[in-house]
Amino acid sequence: MKRNFLIAIMLLLVTGVVRADEGMWLPFRIKSDVIAQMHQLGFLLDADDIYSSDKPSFNDAVVGLGTEGRPFSHFCTGGLVSDKGLFITNHHCGYGFIQKHSTMQNDYLTDGFWAYDHSQELTNIGLTASIMRRMEDVTEIILEGVTENLSHDVRDSIIKLNILAVEKEAIEGTHYLAKVNPFYNGTEYYLSVYEIFNDVRLVGAPPSAIGKFGGDTDNWVWPRHTGDFAMFRIYAGPDNKPAAYSPDNKPYSPDKFFEINGNSVAENDFTFIMGYPGTTQEYLPSAAIELQKNIQNPIRIQLREMRIETMKRHMEQSQEVRIKYSSKVAGVANAWKKWIGEIQGLDRFDVIYKKQELEKEFENFAASNPKYNEIISDYNTIYSQIIAIAPYQEYYFEGAYQVEIIRFISAFSALAKAEKTVSFEQQENMISRVRSFYKDYYLPIDKIVFEKLMTEFSSNVPIEYQPEQFTKLENRFKNDFKAMSDWLFESSLFTDSTKLITFIDGYTIKKAKTIHKDPLYQLYSGLVDAYNMLLAPKFKSLYQELPPIHKLYMQGLREMQHDKTFFPDANSTFRIAFGKVQGYNPKDAIKYHWRTTIDGIIQKNNPEIYDYDVPKKLLELYANKDFGSYSDATGEVPVCFSATNHTTGGNSGSPVLDANGRLVGLNFDRAWEGVMSDLYYNPEICRNISIDIRYALFIVDKYAGAQNLIDEMSIIK
Ligand code: ARG
Ligand code: ASP
Repeated sequence: MKRNFLIAIMLLLVTGVVRADEGMWLPFRIKSDVIAQMHQLGFLLDADDIYSSDKPSFNDAVVGLGTEGRPFSHFCTGGLVSDKGLFITNHHCGYGFIQKHSTMQNDYLTDGFWAYDHSQELTNIGLTASIMRRMEDVTEIILEGVTENLSHDVRDSIIKLNILAVEKEAIEGTHYLAKVNPFYNGTEYYLSVYEIFNDVRLVGAPPSAIGKFGGDTDNWVWPRHTGDFAMFRIYAGPDNKPAAYSPDNKPYSPDKFFEINGNSVAENDFTFIMGYPGTTQEYLPSAAIELQKNIQNPIRIQLREMRIETMKRHMEQSQEVRIKYSSKVAGVANAWKKWIGEIQGLDRFDVIYKKQELEKEFENFAASNPKYNEIISDYNTIYSQIIAIAPYQEYYFEGAYQVEIIRFISAFSALAKAEKTVSFEQQENMISRVRSFYKDYYLPIDKIVFEKLMTEFSSNVPIEYQPEQFTKLENRFKNDFKAMSDWLFESSLFTDSTKLITFIDGYTIKKAKTIHKDPLYQLYSGLVDAYNMLLAPKFKSLYQELPPIHKLYMQGLREMQHDKTFFPDANSTFRIAFGKVQGYNPKDAIKYHWRTTIDGIIQKNNPEIYDYDVPKKLLELYANKDFGSYSDATGEVPVCFSATNHTTGGNSGSPVLDANGRLVGLNFDRAWEGVMSDLYYNPEICRNISIDIRYALFIVDKYAGAQNLIDEMSIIK
């Protein structure tokens, strides 16, 4: 015992390592939870420099990207870098918007886009930018009136009412928006108050050959050479408050923006990250990991592979198809690849076994705490029932519903079911939906996808869970899915945009029968009905048993490990993660360096391979060593670096800050060997990947010649 203690002290002295362990921390709890550890690791400022509800602080310089109607579901993060509302995020975060602006003539995906003055900036319909102003613990108020003996339904409805009241009160007399979220599996509730802007314009994006360099091949992989950044600007009304798009709006003047550190980061430097991690599930039981690792991930991977292969094959043959599908395929491939890595990581670190060991410990603890007694066995019972039917759900959700035309048709069920006249406005709405769907639709891809996915659906979903309409088709076409798709796509109204628009124009409810008779609509509604009637009730009754158990398990774990500071799972609310710039050992005898440089881009260069085709201009800059002030002491331009910050999807574009709170990079990915971190974080191997801000500046300055943007930022040398 004593000897171990001495060894531990010696190790600490020798290596000087204070581990930044896992964690995505709450802004209003930095002081109590982690500031001491942050200071030990090198942070030079105070907790209220990061977050304060009553003075400008870094939280005022962090932007959560959302979409109209769902502004709190932040899909990415950005950081303000000028007093004129300029912010910087990832290229892959802006990708869908860049794609929307791209045409054969103005192919911004391929060529990049730069606004050399405000008038050239491009409006992005539906993009929102939120700034978190205040966050606090409101658990007590939310749980007011909730007692132990209430049924779950009653409990939930009291909580719902309390949440509405708190959200309303929080923003009274302001133009802010408020959201209360559950934390720690619903044992606590915190309020976030946001200012949300909806005039957000595209300012700059490098060509995909820089912003997406390495493509899906390098995605989720270190060492990395992707220039994954893009720039946007927030506009506000004359009072500097959020306003709908108007040409009269002015660049927003923020309370705070990030200064940029123009010098190098070094190994072991302290960094922290502020942003909006989406979902982690660090406290799931072993049975839930089994469900994900052994059932859901493998089926999803297999089904997505079919879609990816089909899309890519057609994209290679036509520029038009490539523009249409580039953003779609990136999204499909991103999760697909992560799931593959996740399975490997979970296996490699024996996570199911580790969780089972923890559960044994928990059962021992529960022996003297009767209220926790049943948890583990309840978990096992429920998850084994879920596991038995989970595959069918996958063949519906990752299978049938992923046929684009079937998803599209779902928008017509309102028309088909309308009982009153359909207004002119509704018709116009539907017509614009049709246009935007068809802008990015290529029917030959979808037909093949249909054929492949429905073949899988047919052979993996037992007949009793299939819609009757589908069984009839199978019989009629004798399981020839090619013939089935030929006929369906040929006979349906929905596969012909011109006919469809004419049909909607002047729509009256008399026309509904045409929709109801349409073979693809029939298949769509058969699928929805079959799922809703045959499977959904089973899942609902199983899944609704879980939240109370998750809650109790969380509460029990925190009691059992009372010395540990738990962080709540990510839920798209504002968080801070911190760590050090560090490489890692991916495998026996291999050590990865913590950073990459422009040399690596040149080493990967291969005009034959789409993902590695370095733009000519970048090659020239390299050949002439025309690096401006962006190279470091060794004469190299840094490109990316890896660090130990705990991040997940949604953290993309998050500002990566140094000990003084200056911007040194933008988070955009995680390293392959550690992508299981959403379920199990391992500090030895889990690394986040950031683009070095100097590479972004180099591209803006030397590649794009956008001196206007360089001048706007505050770069500290
Ligand atoms: N893996 C990163 C994230 O989850 C980047 C994804 C975009 N890149 C891509 N090649 N699909 O968002
Ligand atoms: N690439 C992810 C994002 O877009 C980040 C991650 O999953 O590590 O948020």
